[in-house]
Amino acid sequence: MPMIRSPKALAHRFPGDFVFGVATAAYQIEGAVRADGRRPSIWDAFSHMPGRVRDGDTGDVACDHYNRLEADLDLMASLGVGAYRFSIAWPRVLPDGEGGVNEAGLDFYDRLIDGCKARGIQTFATLYHWDLPLQIAGFGGWTNRDTAHAFARYAGLVARRLGDRLDSVATFNEPWCSVYLGHLMGVHAPGERSMQAAMAALHTTNLAHGLGVQAIRAERGGLATGIVLNAMAVIPASDRSADLDAAERASDFHNGAFFGPLFAGRYPDAMLAACADLAPLIRDGDMAKIRQPLDFWGLNYYTPMRVAHDSDPKAVFPRTVAAPFVHPEKTDIGWEIDPTGLSHVVRDLYGRYKLPQFYITENGAADNTGIENGAVSDTMRLDYLTEHLNVAADLIAEGFALKGYFAWSLMDNFEWAEGYAMRFGLIHVDYGTQIRTIKQSGHWYRDLVTVHRSAD
Ligand code: NOJ
Repeated sequence: MPMIRSPKALAHRFPGDFVFGVATAAYQIEGAVRADGRRPSIWDAFSHMPGRVRDGDTGDVACDHYNRLEADLDLMASLGVGAYRFSIAWPRVLPDGEGGVNEAGLDFYDRLIDGCKARGIQTFATLYHWDLPLQIAGFGGWTNRDTAHAFARYAGLVARRLGDRLDSVATFNEPWCSVYLGHLMGVHAPGERSMQAAMAALHTTNLAHGLGVQAIRAERGGLATGIVLNAMAVIPASDRSADLDAAERASDFHNGAFFGPLFAGRYPDAMLAACADLAPLIRDGDMAKIRQPLDFWGLNYYTPMRVAHDSDPKAVFPRTVAAPFVHPEKTDIGWEIDPTGLSHVVRDLYGRYKLPQFYITENGAADNTGIENGAVSDTMRLDYLTEHLNVAADLIAEGFALKGYFAWSLMDNFEWAEGYAMRFGLIHVDYGTQIRTIKQSGHWYRDLVTVHRSAD
């Protein structure tokens, strides 16, 4: 299928009930970190540690979305999108992680959800987008199995209090990041660097997902429940057997560590054998609790992962090194642009696991183009979105049960360890004045979704 650039023509490649949305996450946009009883999360603590986040940026103010909710919802509605994927800040609704419920925190999400509904926008909530209450981190955070039970109580509370107006809930966003970037590589909160900590965080997170799903179902059986995973499009550097084997190990470590337990009830054998810290953590009954039937899963896709065998005998599992880009283009954050990675990873995963229907819950580009003469000509992002949406349409044509697409992100925001230096928004944010300006890509996306809606 030749690539379609016109938003009007592209809209017709998606079925009438396809969901077009935009996504954000609480700590990246809300700010107001001390407002109305919110208490710190691990990201408040981490971003305030010198040297952890680029330029010393923090989420203290971010896009000040907490105080600008109504205007931001109006702006989102002006894009014509049918769905909003946002996250709920655990430390706003349960400031200590457990115990006392903060009604003012729940009230904010009540207003957010009602505000979406009033504007005809479906609500896709995520329970954990990396902001673990600091109090819980004091007890070991994700390395302590008790945190799985605390998460399940939080999930049940949200389902009970907000679930009647949610169209969908995901337990976790990209647990790969909080497990590996947070506990093995140390570049995300809480900043640990240990395989033992990573394996503990991995198993607790998987268990938390399973217990969380059970808690949601117990409160609200009909609520569409799933998880959002940044499955890696693992591509071997060559067809030499050493690289092919390395790609398999990378698949196990980056994808199988989550997809295996969630959808097949087991960790990959090679990983269990190589990561000696993992097996002792698994108690009788855990794997059955983790493997819950899900209504959907969400895929966040940005870039492929090209891997080669690491011949250093001291290298730890999965014994891979990054292989060079194949395509010359990259986004401003340095990630290779390869839309074929999207179809590669979807085919790969449906070949390995029995998966339910899915959404592309994030896709987008860091394009730091600024404002010139009142406009933002972010042509690289526009091309990126066009190319990836063409692949999404191809996947539907091939028969994959892809139900929706969420652009990351509604607006520029706090890009974790990169602070405010990387801009992913369809809407430009001037952090000094908090003025929002819809970018060229935002206008393009609005045209796409508007034509799609009017064709219903
Ligand atoms: C994935 C994460 O879910 C989101 O928080 C982040 O900003 C984007 N990718 C871009 O890196």
